[in-house]
Amino acid sequence: LMPTDIVVLAAGKGTRMNSHIAKVLHPLAGEPLIHHVVHTAKRVEPRHIAVVIGHQGAEVRASFADDDSGLLWVEQQEQLGTGHAVKLAKEQLPDDGVMLILYGDVPLISQQTLTACENAAKNGNLGLVVAEFSDPAELGRIIRDDTGAVREIVEFKDATSEQRQISEINSGILAAPTTHLAQWLSRLQSNNAQQEYYLTDIIAMAAQDGVDVVPINAVSEAEVTGVNDRIQLAQLERHAQKQRVDQLMLAGASFADPSRVDIRGRIRVGKDCFIDANVLLTGEVELGDGVSIGPGCVISDSRIGAGTQVLPNTLVDGADVGPACSLGPFARVRPGSVLGSGVKIGNFVETKKTRLGDNAKASHLAYLGDAEIGRDVNVGAGTVTCNYDGVNKHRTNIGDGAFIGTNSTLVAPINIAAKAFVAAGSALTKDVEKDQLAVGRSRQRNIDGWSAPSNSSEKNT
Ligand code: UD1
Ligand code: CA
Repeated sequence: LMPTDIVVLAAGKGTRMNSHIAKVLHPLAGEPLIHHVVHTAKRVEPRHIAVVIGHQGAEVRASFADDDSGLLWVEQQEQLGTGHAVKLAKEQLPDDGVMLILYGDVPLISQQTLTACENAAKNGNLGLVVAEFSDPAELGRIIRDDTGAVREIVEFKDATSEQRQISEINSGILAAPTTHLAQWLSRLQSNNAQQEYYLTDIIAMAAQDGVDVVPINAVSEAEVTGVNDRIQLAQLERHAQKQRVDQLMLAGASFADPSRVDIRGRIRVGKDCFIDANVLLTGEVELGDGVSIGPGCVISDSRIGAGTQVLPNTLVDGADVGPACSLGPFARVRPGSVLGSGVKIGNFVETKKTRLGDNAKASHLAYLGDAEIGRDVNVGAGTVTCNYDGVNKHRTNIGDGAFIGTNSTLVAPINIAAKAFVAAGSALTKDVEKDQLAVGRSRQRNIDGWSAPSNSSEKNT
């Protein structure tokens, strides 16, 4: 069995992006273009993945700082062409396998197509991914002979006007046995319109050497569309979004409008989730069965338990939300929020690094930070945990079943015991024990015989 080594070409600048950022680092569905390619490459389970870098190579490499899969980095100082780039990569790869070449700016290539291409190479042939384009623009054209066999690729800039009429294009993606490829690469020359070493010239060499060129038809135009400018990037973004929404619908989620949601990350959904219009899901999000997300919500890196309702315009980030909760509308559940089951976080409530036990409620206007809040606690409107003294953060603990009256100011560090009762409008700086009522405000005085001031200008008339 022949091992596969993958080469990803990513050294180019991407002039037409008009950007200070390397093209392959521009995001698609929330992830840099090249990360999509490497992600799909990994699914082919190759022996090695070598990435050819040049322009902003350090930044491209740094974007993979968390990747411990052993990517090989190949520096191409001068971009002398795709053939030159592959040649440099070849120097770092063994001879006993097949090589599959991908492009860092063709992000939506499918695993299915790559596997077909890889298999052609494993059978001793050259697999070449091709497609029919309605507008082939400046892509390389596939030249076939009378028998229909692929003979060569002609770059747009080198093509005759007749050849430019051909609508079958080169995706750039190909695979071949490494020994063959190495041999062809050593014969490349740069006597062409761009003075570059074209990888595409190896097709004619293969044909001459009697190696079959097996064309593999892309399943869609999008999977072989390269990003050259921001218009193409935006078009592919729409396509990527549709793919993601389709996957989630097949997995059991319904969308009010599949075209008005954005998914930038890896999302898992249970059965019968409902996602309303203008929702943004980013990072790693997991929604349990029957979760409903209202319009205008942003959910990032969070887990939301079965049956929980997220009401309109709520932000949930880095949270672990239990089942049967209700969040929002207009709530902000921040990182480190851990909510039990049946918790209610109402409008204009913010939580951060805070646990709320089962059935705890903060229904309106509150800030709960660095707090441990027990089961069945009721947090009144306007309650604030004063967790910050200007230098350090301090904790608030509230025991099960405690009642925190409206507009309470809890100056941390502070402990409020289970079933304790805090009177409305209290500013508390001392702990409250079990079965105590804490009143932290001045008494009300009612003064008799009071008459309200009258308007002095009125008196003069
Ligand atoms: C290439 C193909 C063309 C094909 C098109 C598909 C060649 C000569 N032409 O053209 O037939 O239709 O892709 O998208 O291969 N790169 C390097 N080092 C270099 C040059 C390029 O790493 O020296 C990388 C780029 O960063 C990019 C990829 O290779 O990711 C493709 O290079 P690009 O210059 O965009 O090729 P095209 O002109 O699009
Ligand atoms: Ca180019």
